[in-house]
Amino acid sequence: MSAGGSSVIDLRSDTVTRPTQPMRAAMAAAEVGDDVYGEDPSVIALEERVAAMFGHEAALFTPTGSMANVLAVASVVSPGQEVLCEARAHIARAELGAHGAVSGLTMRTWSHPRGQIDLTALDDLFAPDLGMYFVRTAAISAENTHNFAGGAVLPLADLQALRAFADERQVAVHLDGARIWNAHVATGVPLASYGAVADVLAVCLSKGLGAPAGSLLVGGREAVLEARVRRKRLGGGMRQVGVLAAAGLYALDHHVDRLAEDHANARLLAEAVGLDPAVVDTNIVAFDCADAPALVARAREAGVLIGAVGARTVRLVTHLDVTPEQAAAAARVLGELVASQDA
Ligand SMILES: Cc1ncc(COP(=O)(O)O)c(C=O)c1O
Repeated sequence: MSAGGSSVIDLRSDTVTRPTQPMRAAMAAAEVGDDVYGEDPSVIALEERVAAMFGHEAALFTPTGSMANVLAVASVVSPGQEVLCEARAHIARAELGAHGAVSGLTMRTWSHPRGQIDLTALDDLFAPDLGMYFVRTAAISAENTHNFAGGAVLPLADLQALRAFADERQVAVHLDGARIWNAHVATGVPLASYGAVADVLAVCLSKGLGAPAGSLLVGGREAVLEARVRRKRLGGGMRQVGVLAAAGLYALDHHVDRLAEDHANARLLAEAVGLDPAVVDTNIVAFDCADAPALVARAREAGVLIGAVGARTVRLVTHLDVTPEQAAAAARVLGELVASQDA
């Protein structure tokens, strides 16, 4: 059995995309300056554009989504305070403790199988300011789409309810929008509506949008100015980084609407491995099988790269570098392998 064609089909993550030729041309032609001096026109254009897309005052370009999250959460949670988030949130599970190690804050979590907001759980968790005896909740974080919950979308109504919950308690909302573009394309919800529910967001250009690097923190002018200082402190002040901002600008022009193709490919893969495609909101398919590492190894032998995210859970991610034909070929391979594991 083979995936068909000579090239390997890489479904491990949407971070594996390589810049297209037109994106590389845009990068080569970028006007640049020293961004630490605030003089890179391409970075300024990107920051202004992304801030406006989400209806916020300002944005800050960062090398990674993790740094954007660390700076964003630190802009609303002080050392010794806590942020509440879902148990499998990227900020809790995959940023290697940076929020505690670097920002001196703590986290408590609620659990939801689809990574959704749970206001009842949040009501239990929420800790008001009780003086010097207890850690105080300063912010609530939501992840949309939710990576480790299989790319699940958080409904806008739930985010709006979260906003109201946070306002009543005078705490901030952080939105990890690494894949907010996928949520936007899957639901048609305007980006500004997502922006309106959050005090601060982190959004990525290097996932589904296919840029080689780059994320942005989006928020109020003051918060972004403060984050600029913290970014420099962390060694994230970059110089002629307009070459990367140009890739991001190109991606915003050309790679947002096409995410619908990735979502269709993901549904095709879901069906092949016996999952109800209706539970696949966007470009991530997470499914259980008898032995995830064994399935990963057999798929690799057949020319399809996939990832184990648990002993019995496998994750497939569709992206810019997977054509519908390759998705169909991978679906055939994985369908047969899953059926033979189940047999
Ligand atoms: C939901 C989410 N947030 C943040 C990040 C961090 O992005 P980066 O790998 O650029 O640090 C990721 C990475 O996959 C992610 O899935």
